[in-house]
Amino acid sequence: MTFSITINGETREIDAPGDMPLLWALRNELGMVGTKFGCGIGMCGACTVHVDGQATRSCSLPLSAVGDKQVSTIEALGQSPVGQALQQAWLDDDVMQCGYCQAGQLMNATALLNNNPNPSDDEISAAMSGNICRCACYNRIHEAIAKVAR
Ligand code: FES
Repeated sequence: MTFSITINGETREIDAPGDMPLLWALRNELGMVGTKFGCGIGMCGACTVHVDGQATRSCSLPLSAVGDKQVSTIEALGQSPVGQALQQAWLDDDVMQCGYCQAGQLMNATALLNNNPNPSDDEISAAMSGNICRCACYNRIHEAIAKVAR
């Protein structure tokens, strides 16, 4: 079946089964490999994208459920002022270690600040608590988000 999906402002045609997770459509059908596979069961946050502005786990969203919603991925993060500010804070604070989970971390952080530009520390912790980092960069991630929020 062919799906017509808006990704980063562009309409893309994807010929794939409707139950294919959006994550695999992005990576395998479109070659957009910035979005990462971690657990595949909605538990780690590595695959986070935005769907109509909300942080969404693309491993758990079937293509058939995307419809006319707007999908944004890490490839377009630098197109938004908040995304740019977070990327810069990530660099300034040397947030990354291995880097594997960071696309998901950044997409979730951007959704947080787009929806709540001045979150409290508790709100940052709550919003980011589902994004797992095997290198345990949690403090630096939190500080970088707080810096952009101020
Ligand atoms: Fe989607 Fe882990 S790969 S939540």
